[in-house]
Amino acid sequence: MPHITLRGVCFCYCILLITIALLSPRQVNCQEVVTIKVPTIDKPTMPQVLFNHDKHVAFVEAREGDCSRCHRMTSEGFSTAVLDVRLQKEDRQVTYLHTACTDCHKASGHGPTITECRACHAKGNVLRAMNK
Ligand code: HEC
Ligand code: HEC
Ligand code: HEC
Repeated sequence: MPHITLRGVCFCYCILLITIALLSPRQVNCQEVVTIKVPTIDKPTMPQVLFNHDKHVAFVEAREGDCSRCHRMTSEGFSTAVLDVRLQKEDRQVTYLHTACTDCHKASGHGPTITECRACHAKGNVLRAMNK
């Protein structure tokens, strides 16, 4: 009978946790990737957008911009939603996001424009549309 020590069990458990952490979708190419929480999409028709936050922060910071390119300070503090999306009527929020995202892509000449649906709604992303 092999002797199973507590230390051995802890070691295996740590390896398991590290493996899960490495495989988690937030760590795509070691960049911080976030999903968009406002608005909540009840009946998705497209794959969920996975937003590469680190890359975008690096871009604005390289141009002496800051978080205010995408976030507002409100009476309740820093808003993690995109700009004024919460202030839009519910049925206008997706259109508002489409414009907020692609205006900068057009102006900067980087990132997908509105006709490049699959650059944002990538098929390889979590296929939320299939979990209707
Ligand atoms: C180019 C746009 C952009 C810039 C610049 C930006 N963010 Fe974000 N940020 C987003 C988007 C999009 C989300 C997801 C919005 C949502 O959940 O609805 C987000 C979400 C967040 C969240 C919530 C994270 C989570 O896990 O959901 C935090 C915290 C945050 N941003 C902080 C910052 C800070 C601090 C800066 C400046 C250093 C910054 N952001 C710059 C677009 C941006
Ligand atoms: C302030 C300007 C700005 C805003 C606002 C912005 N982007 Fe971008 N985006 C960029 C730039 C610049 C790139 C190219 C980054 C690079 O290649 O390093 C980019 C690249 C991308 C890409 C290409 C793939 C990738 O991850 O590099 C996607 C997808 C994308 N943006 C999605 C979004 C979405 C979704 C939003 C709105 C929530 C958004 N962007 C808002 C500037 C912006
Ligand atoms: C610059 C990135 C970007 C591009 C390009 C883009 N979208 Fe979106 N779209 C978003 C974001 C961000 C959301 C809201 C968050 C989410 O759906 O994960 C969204 C939401 C949606 C939704 C509502 C949610 C759903 O799954 O039903 C539809 C429909 C949609 N987009 C269709 C399109 C179509 C069609 C195109 C091409 C003509 C397109 N989008 C191009 C970023 C983009």
